[in-house]
Amino acid sequence: MDMTTSLVDHTFRKDVRRCFENRTYAIPARWLYDRRGSELFEEITELPEYYPTRTETKLLRDNGAAFAASTGTGRAVIEFGSGSSVKTPNLLKAIDPAAYVPIDISGEFLEHSASLLQEEFPELPIYPVEADFMNRVALPEAMADMPKLGFFPGSTIGNMIARTSVDLLRFMRETLGEGAQLLIGFDRIKDVQTLIDAYDDAAGVTAQFSLNLLHRINRELAADIPVDRFRHKAVWNDLYARIEIYLEAQDDVQFSIDGHSHAMAGGQKIHIENSHKYGLRDARLMLRAGGWTPLREWSDELDYFTLMLVEAHPLKHAP
Ligand code: AVJ
Repeated sequence: MDMTTSLVDHTFRKDVRRCFENRTYAIPARWLYDRRGSELFEEITELPEYYPTRTETKLLRDNGAAFAASTGTGRAVIEFGSGSSVKTPNLLKAIDPAAYVPIDISGEFLEHSASLLQEEFPELPIYPVEADFMNRVALPEAMADMPKLGFFPGSTIGNMIARTSVDLLRFMRETLGEGAQLLIGFDRIKDVQTLIDAYDDAAGVTAQFSLNLLHRINRELAADIPVDRFRHKAVWNDLYARIEIYLEAQDDVQFSIDGHSHAMAGGQKIHIENSHKYGLRDARLMLRAGGWTPLREWSDELDYFTLMLVEAHPLKHAP
């Protein structure tokens, strides 16, 4: 736990230094999720403009019988980046699994949500694993002979650029093994205003979520960034099919981080997040590039969101 905490601190510091000292003006989106950031994200999922959580949860509720028909019962469900595990009960109820393995980088969150879930499923063996799932993860010994189902909801994959997504899909394949299945959520390409509204809500919760990153830098890295002089900005990049989130300096600002002074000009932006959107063929091709074969798909009636069930087939040596 201490090891992991200091590793997180060290990597956060390194990423923030790279942003301001090497002038990349970009910070990886994973740093948005400290305690306050996770709270704000939970608030985002309840906003009227933020359709993904609601839509995916309904898909999970409505299609239980179809999941069960495709996955069978008795699988070990391995959830990547389980967080608060709010969507998990819908899946567990539907497919009657043999075990549940939530994987998360935050050990604190993990124990808490695992014990809540244990109350709801008293018979189910739960094995929380504290790990960074952007690498191959060693699963508990008890899982060795169980058929496996990976679960990666929320379009979390949307935070990653394509090559990182493919790396992750390949790591998941290594973690789960041949014959495993994976149920994964993709946020779909849709009209631009709907997308912008989902990432720039009227109540300003998403803006608070973004600006919390600067507060976090101030809190954890001995910094004095004038947060009230930055503005949250959501932009649609059509070429990359993604929403890009920036923090834009409203006028010239000066601040120090870790004893180093920095200046930004008015209008200058820090890139803090990407949220990629997918066509069905985009998603299928990316999955195949990562070693996964599409089996079945479920979308809502507006085609706002899609759950895909895919399988790790043995590799064939055909071209
Ligand atoms: C958790 C990555 C799926 O991209 O929709 C929501 C994060 N950022 N509003 C998303 C997010 C701003 C979210 N994911």
